[in-house]
Amino acid sequence: MIIAIDGPSGAGKSSVSKEVARNLGFSMLDTGAMYRCIAWQALQNGASLDDEAALGEIARTYDIEFEHEAGNPQAVGVLIGGVDVTSAIRTAEIDRSVSKASSHVAVREALVAQQQRIGRAGDYVVEGRDIGTVVFPDAAVKVFLTASNEERARRRVAQNAERGVGSTDFDEVLAAIVRRDELDSSRAASPLVAADDAVHIDSTAFTMQEVVEQICELAKKAQA
Ligand code: DC
Repeated sequence: MIIAIDGPSGAGKSSVSKEVARNLGFSMLDTGAMYRCIAWQALQNGASLDDEAALGEIARTYDIEFEHEAGNPQAVGVLIGGVDVTSAIRTAEIDRSVSKASSHVAVREALVAQQQRIGRAGDYVVEGRDIGTVVFPDAAVKVFLTASNEERARRRVAQNAERGVGSTDFDEVLAAIVRRDELDSSRAASPLVAADDAVHIDSTAFTMQEVVEQICELAKKAQA
């Protein structure tokens, strides 16, 4: 069974997906991490982020692997081409580069195929931007998770501080979030848009636990 969780950056998708997966005994797939890997590898190879052919080639040829540990639905490590990029893909430079890298059809086709292969292998909570619309249009549960811009910036600052990577300047993070939303929503290929049958949850007014409970309820109804 697939639970698709889409929404803009900083809406709480990762924390919510992790807890939902833990409650239901599902695995979790962070598709944003895969686009971040492509952006990182492009910078590493000196490829222009505008070069669709080069980025498509990277997406088709470099292996992206997630490292898991028992009892934790969230991957503890991410590798591309055998190189551990767990922290390297969370820097402000990657934040700035990833929208462009993820806008190319050639990149999306290669990664969507991988995501479908991974998801079909079991019960997954899959988080991203196009999971309910493109990757798993038949997902049993589709959630479109949002929060106000300010709340999302506040959460991203806290997350960056905890991880020790990325900016912790509120105004800088807020500006980056607004800019990335615009790019993600306005791109031609699979823009950030809610599926017609997605349940919209605005997490600004709810605690994470309340959002998790709402989604687990939806999953139980879908299972029944
Ligand atoms: O969720 P995130 O912030 O780690 O995502 C990084 C970028 O990847 C984001 O700018 C949008 C893009 N993305 C995408 O286009 N499709 C997805 N399914 C997931 C992420």
